[in-house]
Amino acid sequence: MTDTLDIKITKTNKSRLEETDFSHLPFGKVFSDHMFTADYEDGEWKNFQIVPYGDISFSPAISVLHYGQAFFEGLKAYKHDDGKVTVFRPYKNAERFNKSAERLCAPELPEDIFVQSIAALVDLDRDWIPTAAHHSLYIRPFMFSTDPYLGVQPSKTYKYMVLTGPVGAYFSKPLKVKVETKYSRASEGGFGFAKAAGNYAGSLLPAQEAMKEGFDQLIWTDGRDHAFVEELGAANVMFMIDGTLITPSTRDTILKGVTRDSVLTLARKWGIPVEERRVSVAEVIDALKNGKLTEAFGVGTAATIAPIASIGSEGELYHLPDTTKAEFSNRTLKALNEIRYGKVADEFGWNYTV
Ligand code: COI
Repeated sequence: MTDTLDIKITKTNKSRLEETDFSHLPFGKVFSDHMFTADYEDGEWKNFQIVPYGDISFSPAISVLHYGQAFFEGLKAYKHDDGKVTVFRPYKNAERFNKSAERLCAPELPEDIFVQSIAALVDLDRDWIPTAAHHSLYIRPFMFSTDPYLGVQPSKTYKYMVLTGPVGAYFSKPLKVKVETKYSRASEGGFGFAKAAGNYAGSLLPAQEAMKEGFDQLIWTDGRDHAFVEELGAANVMFMIDGTLITPSTRDTILKGVTRDSVLTLARKWGIPVEERRVSVAEVIDALKNGKLTEAFGVGTAATIAPIASIGSEGELYHLPDTTKAEFSNRTLKALNEIRYGKVADEFGWNYTV
């Protein structure tokens, strides 16, 4: 751990807490009172500040608007019954943030700066952490390039910021998903493993087309043959086939999810066979047809554990067994929540106390 970060804090003189309806928290629309900001200039990170949440202004020439050097993370803070506040596995996100930075030619952010910026912000806005079941404070750290220059080259200046906001469940019901075989989210040698803004921009049109067909989300397949499953919307995906938990192994095209890792850790602890490997669409459809696919679900910070109710592939719609009875995914969500909300001992050391 480096020395405590020297953060200049300017508090808001008018909190929005009182006027916020905590019984209605659409994901990503409600923001807490403050935000963290830092600048990268002359080869170093500086100007660590917490300021009231609000607009920022830049030159219209800043390179992120033109060439997209932008990436982010997503993690959550939880309030325990005794008032203690913890953030779930922030060093894992710090590590991945730097993988994204490296791939996008942006500067490394020391992991301790990442974690301390989050801890300081969450601590200041701790009253914004909702306490209802399945609720938490979503934390969105992000970095973007700020050189006002239209030449195509890595920017020399960057901004790092953190926003937070109270959230409930991301998905309101089990998902009807479509196996996408026209578009792809990522390609070998690309940056699908990074949380690059551009990955999400490219996913919008395919998702919109799938929604027009009545689906909620897409199962992304590999960009070369569309034969192998990669991710589910903006989350990783897992299948329970014949008692084995199977998930696509991480590679260039697949995000190394923190929730993914946590679920696999729990499954292994429980003695459930786990396979991280390539998963073909044909294998999933065969398992659906012969009744061996008992559960399928997305795993992600925002999504938590998102059960899949049906899968559309090549014009056919296949239904999964009743997701409310899905043994593994329900057990996993319960176990994860017990750790996050401090109901049981944190045996893996996943909770970072603020
Ligand atoms: C998250 O789970 O934090 C994500 O990154 C998904 C987000 C794009 C909604």
